[in-house]
This record gives sequence, structure tokens and C-alpha cells, in this order.
Amino acid sequence: MIRRLRRGCLAVKQNRWRFARQALKCLIRGRVRYNPPPMLNKKMCLIGGGNMGGALLRGILNSGLTGAENISVIDVHAGKLETFKKQYGVTIGRDPRPAVAAADLVILAVKPMTLNEVLDQIRDSVRPEQLFVSIIAGVESTHIRDRLGKQNPVVRVMPNIAATVDAAASAIACCQPATEDHMLLAEAIFAAVGEVVRVDEEHLDAVTGLSGSGPAYIYMVIEALCDGGVKMGLPRDVAMRLATQTVFGAAKLVKDTGQHPAMLRDQVTTPGGTTIAAVHELEERGLRAMLISAVVTATERSRALNSIARKR
Ligand SMILES: NC(=O)c1ccc[n+]([C@@H]2O[C@H](COP(=O)([O-])OP(=O)(O)OC[C@H]3O[C@@H](n4cnc5c(N)ncnc54)[C@H](OP(=O)(O)O)[C@@H]3O)[C@@H](O)[C@H]2O)c1
Repeated sequence: MIRRLRRGCLAVKQNRWRFARQALKCLIRGRVRYNPPPMLNKKMCLIGGGNMGGALLRGILNSGLTGAENISVIDVHAGKLETFKKQYGVTIGRDPRPAVAAADLVILAVKPMTLNEVLDQIRDSVRPEQLFVSIIAGVESTHIRDRLGKQNPVVRVMPNIAATVDAAASAIACCQPATEDHMLLAEAIFAAVGEVVRVDEEHLDAVTGLSGSGPAYIYMVIEALCDGGVKMGLPRDVAMRLATQTVFGAAKLVKDTGQHPAMLRDQVTTPGGTTIAAVHELEERGLRAMLISAVVTATERSRALNSIARKR
């Protein structure tokens, strides 16, 4: 958002008034909109309307990237589909084949164990130029391309559950023969639900281990902090609010200041004080080593999921 506002200011400096007016209008509306890349006006088919699929659908439509008339959502739950239709006016269906045949872009948002079934179902409806965007943990682009058998461009993305509140950390990887235009398109979609970074595909398992699964680790941290407060006599609701805001505020400080977390920690550890006593306890019990191991283990599991998908 800040980057786009900066672009607006730059436009004023450069006398590009139409662009500047657009940025100002967005400010007044409280939301920053920008011209979508042209391909976003093409047809999209979203397969899997669960947690992530639902979040992406909302993000795409809320940010005005494309209209509801361009989107088909495929899921196995009639109830979920009806809700999407009522809420957003998108086309819905249980059979992916007609929607895929008509799409320029297919987003794969089913669970890894369902993927092969879906790919086999749609294979004959796919055209080689269609872009596939996959958010499926651990499944390599070559598997998707090989299973479809048409050399389609694939962009792999690893978002996280915070997409549901527009605060996702997503990493996207360009997989041959995807192009820069395909990457820009995928970037625009995931920027609608949070932050996006680019990585090489080989790093996506590590991304899964860090930010894909990461929210679960932090939920455990929040719960444990809350329990600590309760143990020391705080009412549970008060402890939960304090724990949650503490994690949120600490993350915001790291993000907004760009300072290394160790420096920020040093700033709040008074010699001989309470915080350094707690930091010593956390070091002795191996908090950091535990979190590092968690990321390593989740990364390895992500790699294993790819092998399982290939064997099916
Ligand atoms: N959730 C996360 O935090 C997260 C983060 C990063 C990446 N991902 C990836 O995102 C993908 C989706 O995750 P999710 O959490 O959104 O899962 P989810 O909530 O289970 O959503 C998947 C949806 O697809 C439906 N489905 C099952 N079989 C189908 C089929 N043949 N055709 C169409 N739809 C079908 C599921 O129905 P049923 O419920 O009946 O199975 C469900 O509604 C996964 O591959 C995961 O690796 C998830």
C-alpha cells in the first residue's frame, strides 16, 4: 500500500495527473486500487473453495482485479458453492471440466492428496497455453505439468492462512515455461491478500516450513503466553488479549522499523531486569532451537509430500 502511495506522490512530481488523481480517489475510499495487468480480465477457474480458495476469491474480487463474471469456482460441497454464488455472484460447479476449458488461468487450491484426481479429471479439457497457479504444499510444478501432459506454464505459490485476513505471507516461484507476465499476474493475485516475495522453486519447501505452517507455531506461542498469564493470576480473556496484541505489536515493530529482532530485544532487556531473566529461561529451554527444528521438520515433510504425490 505504501509503495503504491509513493508511486502516487511520484506521479504528482512528474505531472502525471491522471495517475495521481486515481491514487487520491483510492485514498479517499480507504483502499488502494491500481490498474490490473490486462490478463486479469481473462477467465479464471478456482478449483477448491476451502480456506485458501475462499480467501483468494475474496481478495481477487475485493481488490477489483477482475469481475465475478470471469470467475468459476469448483468444489465438491454444494453448500459452500451456493454461498460463493450468493455472496460474490461467481459461477459455480462441481465438474471442473467446462470451467477449465473456458479458463485462461486455473488456480489449484485442493489438498495435496486430491490433486491427482483433479488433474486426471481435467487433463482432456486443458490447453497448453493456460496458466496453472498452484498453492498446493510440496507438489512440484513438473508433477503438475507431467500429469497434465501439455507443458503448461505453472506458477507455484505458498501463501498462508493469514490470507483470510489479507495478511498472508506468500512466496511465488516461476516454473518453466512460465514467463514474467505470468509471474506479474500471480503476484497481483496474491498481493490482494497480503505480502508476496519471489523465490526459486527449490526453496518452496522451506517457505512451507517457515511461513506456510508458521501461523500454527505462533498460535502455540500465543496460547502458551496466555497460559503463563493465567498461571500468574490473570483472567483468561485479559491474558489472551494481552498475548495476542504482544505478538502482533512485536511483529509490527520488526516490520515497520526493519530492525533486526535481536536489536529490538536488546532495547527492552534492562540489565538485571525481568526480561533478561525470562530470555535466559527461554535460551536454557531451547526456544530458538525448537523453532528452527520445527521449520526443518515441516520442510522435510513438504519434500516427502511431493514424493508421495509422484508415486500415486
Ligand atoms: N491452509 C493453509 O494454511 C495453507 C497454506 C498454504 C498452502 N495451503 C495449500 O492450499 C491447499 C488448500 O488448503 P485449504 O486449507 O484451503 O484446504 P481446504 O479448506 O480443505 O480446501 C480444499 C477444498 O477443496 C475441496 N475439494 C476436495 N476434493 C475436491 C475436488 N475433487 N474438486 C474440487 N474441490 C475439492 C475440499 O472439500 P473437502 O473438504 O470435502 O475435502 C475443500 O472444500 C492445500 O493444498 C494446502 O497445501 C494451505
